[in-house]
Amino acid sequence: MWKGRFAQETSALVQRYGESVSFDWRLFAHDIAGSIAHSKGLLKAGILTAEEQQKIETGLLEIRHEIEKGNFEFKESLEDVHMNIESELTRRIGSAGAKLHTARSRNDQIATDVRLYCRSTIDTIIKHTRAMQAALIECAERGSDAVMPGYTHLQRGQPVFFAHHLLAYVEMLDRDAARIADCRKRLNVMPLGSGALAGSTIIIDREFVAQQLGFDGVTQNSMDAVSDRDFVAELLFAISLQGVHLSRLSEDVILWASAEFGFVTLSDAHTTGSSLMPQKKNPDVAELTRGKSARLIGNLMSILTLLKGLPMTYNRDLQEDKEPLFDSIDTISLALEVFTEMISGMDVNRAKTTVAASDPMLLATDLADYLVNHGVPFRQAHEVIGKLVAYSIEQKRSFGEMKLEEFQRFSPAFEADVTACLNLETAMAARKGIGAPSPQNVKAQLARWRTALNA
Ligand code: ARG
Repeated sequence: MWKGRFAQETSALVQRYGESVSFDWRLFAHDIAGSIAHSKGLLKAGILTAEEQQKIETGLLEIRHEIEKGNFEFKESLEDVHMNIESELTRRIGSAGAKLHTARSRNDQIATDVRLYCRSTIDTIIKHTRAMQAALIECAERGSDAVMPGYTHLQRGQPVFFAHHLLAYVEMLDRDAARIADCRKRLNVMPLGSGALAGSTIIIDREFVAQQLGFDGVTQNSMDAVSDRDFVAELLFAISLQGVHLSRLSEDVILWASAEFGFVTLSDAHTTGSSLMPQKKNPDVAELTRGKSARLIGNLMSILTLLKGLPMTYNRDLQEDKEPLFDSIDTISLALEVFTEMISGMDVNRAKTTVAASDPMLLATDLADYLVNHGVPFRQAHEVIGKLVAYSIEQKRSFGEMKLEEFQRFSPAFEADVTACLNLETAMAARKGIGAPSPQNVKAQLARWRTALNA
């Protein structure tokens, strides 16, 4: 492609070192879409005749079809996806093909391809995210009556519905989808027409070309346009954070599936056995996902580090953006799919959650609130209940087993109705402020998400 200036062939080692077609071939459909749109721009600019443009379009569509069928041979010697497609086109249709690269550089071409690629994968990731939210809702609905301890510091805190806990992840995933959709807005601007770095003396109607490709507009600075990979960094951040969310859910699932908690049962299809210990049923899907979040973060770090020292404008370093990008997209997509399945096969184990949730200590805060409702300032109430907790531990008797006069030894504000607030059902019903886990609230949230996800 650059033989004019060179007297020597590229060394075989350099070719192997610099080729990108082994991974960027997957941009082929976007590369071809970009080239067809560009050919229409060239027609409009009078560089191509209608007949030439037609030949280019037909030729490119044939090549795309062959790649899809697996009948196209990508050659490492042709370096990248762009040159593989262009040289095959020219081999087939002759001089019209040789005109395609007018007013274009691989620098604006790759920037365009990657944006198109991100745009379409963003749509897929959002779809997978919605499916996983639906699986969480469905699992929460199946176990909607199950109450379990909610934890802080991994110490039992206050009672919550299992559904409320799962709904927390539905919220997180919603922010993930919104963040990824936001990233799409900024990346949907077309760099094509920026040339190598300074546009071209041949004027193409860039807005017309952008319309062909579904872009919302065109970039306004050719130097920025060929070197900007902010959208890759943004997308990899959004994916990393989503990976972190999946990793946190993984950790919960791993704990819950242990004999120590026993709060959930995972289906056989989504667990693995041990080659040595016959009794084992391991939550590998969750462990792998927790592990894979590490590489998502690593990929984000790669991109940020790649960009930080680059002088304007395009530098070949930028070729290194693709493997981390592709890896993160593949990893998060598969993780979301497999999690959707695993959650669909996960059942809450009420026998275990009920026992854990009936730990009377979970209602210590409710007792403090009781005193507040009887006129005791909260700080004072907190101290009273703290002493009562110590007494209960020392006496090895739960709050429910204590007599009213024992309560009254700690505060005269206790009355006969104190037993009512020791009832789990009453305690759950009382948590009815916005965002808290009363049965009515949880039901309303499940219904709200059902409607939103169906829409
Ligand atoms: N393979 C290159 C990349 O991924 C395409 C652009 C190459 N441009 C160049 N001037 N060598 O960034």
